Amino acid sequence: MENFMDLCLRRQSCRDFADRPVEHEKLVHCLEAARLSPSGCNSQPWSFVVAESPQAVAEVAKCGQQMNMNPFLDKAKAFVVVLEEHAVLMPGIRKIMDSQYFAKGDMGAATYAVCLAAEDQGLGSCIIGMYDREKICEVLGIPVEKQFGALIALGYPASDKVRNKNRKTLTDIARFV
Ligand SMILES: Cc1cc2nc3c(=O)[nH]c(=O)nc-3n(C[C@H](O)[C@H](O)[C@H](O)COP(=O)(O)O)c2cc1C
Repeated sequence: MENFMDLCLRRQSCRDFADRPVEHEKLVHCLEAARLSPSGCNSQPWSFVVAESPQAVAEVAKCGQQMNMNPFLDKAKAFVVVLEEHAVLMPGIRKIMDSQYFAKGDMGAATYAVCLAAEDQGLGSCIIGMYDREKICEVLGIPVEKQFGALIALGYPASDKVRNKNRKTLTDIARFV
């Protein structure tokens, strides 16, 4: 069994998906992992909408191809939309903080959990940054005023080649005191 660091190294943005459907149970497992993520005051200010039917997936894929970006989405087999919900903070904290103060970070934690859980099950994932939010709301029946935390494309990777990670070094970004 591989360790956690191996999983982090193997998880990469997948931009070529195989023509193989993703099992519903694997998508549920991704959301179970997200559900276990930490959040400010344990407020869990998230909900998830999964596109898994071929029709919904095709429509969301179109919404993620703004300005001809992300053509590979045509081959995605599922999408997870992470939605930001109202966060109920602890009474003492809510006196001094805006309710959504921690929520952006919470979105990131849940999103990464989905991606790692996908990788752990042999699935590829890619977080998508540009998309037509209003159109996705229309296609998936999401209230149009909802804030999105993330849109994540999922599917089996077409290749099992793992790329080298291009990252800043630890000495560039960390300081131990
Ligand atoms: C908020 C966010 C938005 C992103 N948007 C896109 C995108 O629209 N298209 C894409 O191909 N990759 C997108 N990515 C993936 C990043 O390019 C990728 O995570 C980064 O280059 C590091 O590579 P790796 O994920 O393969 O390790 C996005 C990632 C994040 C976190």
